[in-house]
Amino acid sequence: MAKIKIAFFEITADEKKYVKKQFDKNYELFFYKEKLDEENVALIKDVDVVSIFIYSKITQKIIDKAKKLNLIATRSTGFNHINLKEAQKNKISVCNVPYYGENTVAEHTFALILALSRNLHKAYVRTIQGNYSLEGLRGFDLKNKTLGVIGAGSIGMHVIKMAKGFGMKVIAFDPNENHIMKELLDLKYVPLEELLSTSDIITIHCPYSEQTQYLINMRNIHLVKKGALFINTARSGIVEPSALYYAIDSGIFGGAGLDVFEGEELALEENQMLTKNVPLEHLEAIMKRNILLRRENVIITPHMAFDSVEAVERILDTTIKNIKSFIAKENYHKVV
Ligand code: NAI
Repeated sequence: MAKIKIAFFEITADEKKYVKKQFDKNYELFFYKEKLDEENVALIKDVDVVSIFIYSKITQKIIDKAKKLNLIATRSTGFNHINLKEAQKNKISVCNVPYYGENTVAEHTFALILALSRNLHKAYVRTIQGNYSLEGLRGFDLKNKTLGVIGAGSIGMHVIKMAKGFGMKVIAFDPNENHIMKELLDLKYVPLEELLSTSDIITIHCPYSEQTQYLINMRNIHLVKKGALFINTARSGIVEPSALYYAIDSGIFGGAGLDVFEGEELALEENQMLTKNVPLEHLEAIMKRNILLRRENVIITPHMAFDSVEAVERILDTTIKNIKSFIAKENYHKVV
């Protein structure tokens, strides 16, 4: 019987070791550190399954060239990097990892909140230079502050539980209200406008979709309570970039913790700018990010909220189970 060919992209050496142990002789595995893109699509012309992370954008062109492909297994919760319509049209199934890291992403959210509220990032830079002055480092308490959670699903609910531990008041905006959790956590659902105007800290945990694109935008940014902290560990497209830059520049946002930002995938390739022609809009995104990075009240992390030892193991376990179940025609986390 022909072996089932699986190509893993965006995979580290440690992950490769872990994955290899889980497949027997019936499978032929290929591992690539780089992302899958239109330039290297020939690598998957004979494979049955590809497994990718979020930087591999699965376009119509890629799908057209992957003649034998049956399954795209993304090692992420979000799947907005895959052209689902084209996949369906070509009878390619897509699966994801829906639950691996609610606590992991929520913990990173609080790492960003606490770094900003207690100026940890500034203190770190100063003390490695031998400066132990407290000047300009006074923070503020989280206790009794209002946290506004946009998208109270798996991750959002974990953030809410943690916020309660800090003695915070919590409000949420979500079109799908969870009445059990509302009672259990003493949670108040409010309209988006009210959340923006009353929260001391706003944090985003809804998916990126046509409905949530630019949910925060130039029209509603003025509603934000002046000086509120803004945290985004979901997807950058949920906030209109000009509104984000304007809010930081004008002090509407007192600080921002961003695990996701416009053009984040380009940041990985910045070195290639020296040798390749980079489109102007990419240069613009990189420049804006660099200006933001120089602000003392902005912390940018490189889309790492998911990246803990435990969460990565859970991601790999679920992906492997997805692939094996798809082949065995059993239940798996099917997107389309
Ligand atoms: P989930 O599906 O459990 O929860 C999402 C919540 O958003 C749901 O309650 C849903 O009703 C709500 N929602 C949908 N449309 C909305 C709208 N228009 N306005 C407000 N709320 C809306 O998803 P989960 O697991 O909590 O993940 C949320 C997002 O976090 C993912 O879609 C992904 O983009 C992002 N994420 C980021 C990671 C990182 O490393 N930075 C890692 C994992 C997820």
